[in-house]
Amino acid sequence: MTTGEHDSQVSQPNPFLTQYVPPRIDGSFTGKHIITVDQFARKDLQILFDAAASLRKRVHESDRGLVELCNSKVMASLFFEASTRTDLSFQAAMRRLGGKVISASNGVQFSSVYKGENLADTVRAAGCYADVLVLRHPQLGSSYEAAYYLDKLNQRIQNPTVIISGGDGIGEHPTQALLDMFTIYDKKKQFNHLTVTMVGDLRHGRTVHSLAKLLTHYAPEQVTVCLVSPRSLTTPREIVARLQASGISVFETSELQAVLGQSDVIYWTRVQEERFAADPQEYEAVKDDFIITPAVMRHAKPDAILMHPLPRKHEMGTRSDHDILDEDPRAVYFEQMENGMFIRMALLAKVLRGVYV
Ligand code: NCD
Repeated sequence: MTTGEHDSQVSQPNPFLTQYVPPRIDGSFTGKHIITVDQFARKDLQILFDAAASLRKRVHESDRGLVELCNSKVMASLFFEASTRTDLSFQAAMRRLGGKVISASNGVQFSSVYKGENLADTVRAAGCYADVLVLRHPQLGSSYEAAYYLDKLNQRIQNPTVIISGGDGIGEHPTQALLDMFTIYDKKKQFNHLTVTMVGDLRHGRTVHSLAKLLTHYAPEQVTVCLVSPRSLTTPREIVARLQASGISVFETSELQAVLGQSDVIYWTRVQEERFAADPQEYEAVKDDFIITPAVMRHAKPDAILMHPLPRKHEMGTRSDHDILDEDPRAVYFEQMENGMFIRMALLAKVLRGVYV
């Protein structure tokens, strides 16, 4: 798919990544763009988790009915990269809040992006019509550029628009990390002496980048983070440094068996094939390094939880491995997926209305 003028630049970080400073939440979500987990303090996470738990209860009790907190609001969905869960859960979240969803009729590739329109203009067009935009884009830092230009637009139009990132390239995926933390919190109830093991493509996996940053809020509670990856796909150094600076014990290895038996949370990830366009051989060399199967899960703790942001491919073995793993009570990725809708409902309600849920 073309990404307008960014086609040739998508492999480079967007310059706004270092120029635009996103607002901190600091207890108040209303009207704030959500583009990095760095905006959240621990108390903000708790506000959001409480809201998501309350919304989950209300949705379940009403037989998946509506919780009409965003009746008059419109969300624009702008996905320049493939998505199932993020796209559908944001759309479902908005509709369950009573809001409406718009998107380019035949997908963003048939919007004016096809004619070569740049991101700043596409985003401002959507900003003229919608109250909130959800943007997924292949370029690292693209959501920073979108936020910058929406701020400019907001000075000129009557009703301001916020952007929520649905993932920017190999950078961050803030709402995924929020739902991941919510799931850990929900399943484990506390963070004391918790060992979180992330496995797979830790270099390109934006979900692990955001989740690792959020875990730094729980350092005083003796969280240990194990980072298991092929040597060529280790976690970016600045994220490892952030973890260590927070007081978290970090253990990097390419040997899963060194840490599997001690892990309370096993966060499995896909090797991000689409990030190897320049070197498909490199993908071939690492794609089978870490495969979680029912046999591997025999070495995990009985009360561990197995998470995965999905989609899954062969890093979870064959289809019959999937079927067996899905029956394992430790596999929580479907609850994790459902939680995505509740976290996004909470976030949309807070950002659009600041409502107490
Ligand atoms: C992830 C993503 O897009 O980063 N998926 C998701 O949003 N649930 C993980 C992936 O694609 O592997």
